[in-house]
Amino acid sequence: MEAMVSEASNAAPLRVALVGAGGLGRGWAKVISNQQGAELGAVVDPLIGSERQAEWIVEEVGHLPLATDLEATLEMDIDAAVVTAFSIAHHVAVKAALERGLHVLVEKPFTVTLQEAEELVSLAADKGLTLMVSQNYRYFPGASLLREIVRDERYGSIASVFCEFCLDWPGKPYQHGMQHAMGLEMAVHHFDMCRAIFDAEATGGYAREWQPAGSQYAGGGAIEAVFEMEGSRGTFPFTYSGSLVSKAPRTPWPGRWRFEFDRKTILLDTLENGYGLYACQVEEHEWLGRYDGDTMLFNLPLAHFIDSIRTGKEPWSSGRDNLGTMRMALAAEFFGKGR
Ligand SMILES: NC(=O)c1ccc[n+]([C@@H]2O[C@H](COP(=O)([O-])OP(=O)(O)OC[C@H]3O[C@@H](n4cnc5c(N)ncnc54)[C@H](O)[C@@H]3O)[C@@H](O)[C@H]2O)c1
Repeated sequence: MEAMVSEASNAAPLRVALVGAGGLGRGWAKVISNQQGAELGAVVDPLIGSERQAEWIVEEVGHLPLATDLEATLEMDIDAAVVTAFSIAHHVAVKAALERGLHVLVEKPFTVTLQEAEELVSLAADKGLTLMVSQNYRYFPGASLLREIVRDERYGSIASVFCEFCLDWPGKPYQHGMQHAMGLEMAVHHFDMCRAIFDAEATGGYAREWQPAGSQYAGGGAIEAVFEMEGSRGTFPFTYSGSLVSKAPRTPWPGRWRFEFDRKTILLDTLENGYGLYACQVEEHEWLGRYDGDTMLFNLPLAHFIDSIRTGKEPWSSGRDNLGTMRMALAAEFFGKGR
């Protein structure tokens, strides 16, 4: 994924409908409004006009057309949808947008089943529309630096990768009813990061989902997995441990990682310079740089989405590409037994 954004063009701005006006939708409304090449044209959420409509809507986007579903926008001049509905509604919202003839950028997780995701990929292909999943963690500066390190082999080849994530997350109401809560809501970021950094796919392995005592989720509050990753730079095991119901001190959102290269180990951890990348040998380590940014960098996937529509090129994290991330997020179904 080079040239994320091509030269500034004179094309008319992409008119975007924001579909899902909850907590994250609020942030996305600002990102779309501030994005060169895009314009927020409408806001859609079934709660609009009800007592449960989010408070920020009136003040921040009240001047725009507001609708409870995409059908009500049929007469409006809209080119694309950014879907920030809660995860269990992604399939229905993306399908409606594609059927309305809109290009779609959907928040992670793409959908909550692989079958739903596959259906949307083929619908977008049939309609000739761009379908991209916003996997913003791919765009963190540290992930880009790791991609460079993998490509130029400055520390040799990758031998093994380990990632740990834990948090005592109260969960949103929609998350409480979810199966595969850890996989779909959180591990999906880490799995996608690993695929993107190494241009690799999980081709086998073992995964076990489990429910820590007192889990507030319907299923899969925690995951343990060992994936066999296969990519252009070779094969390596990726060991993952993640929990949304952990009593341990929390890890940062992108997780705590150990990348074992032939000549050095890279840690993504909190050492003397704070949370970031460190190239380590047994006796010493060197600060390589900060991993994440001040914001969650949603502007970068959006810029790439706009560029993909303009150039007609498949996005880096297209719906099709994301099927590999979905298989890992639903790991217990594909690589082992879940419960
Ligand atoms: N990339 C990230 O870093 C990141 C961070 C947080 C959340 N997310 C994702 O963003 C999504 C939204 O999360 P949230 O925290 O804003 O949830 P939320 O519960 O605060 O808001 C979700 C909104 O979606 C609306 N909705 C439900 N069905 C809809 C439909 N069919 N069409 C339009 N809107 C619909 C709800 O009415 C609600 O207003 C989730 O999928 C979540 O996984 C991503």
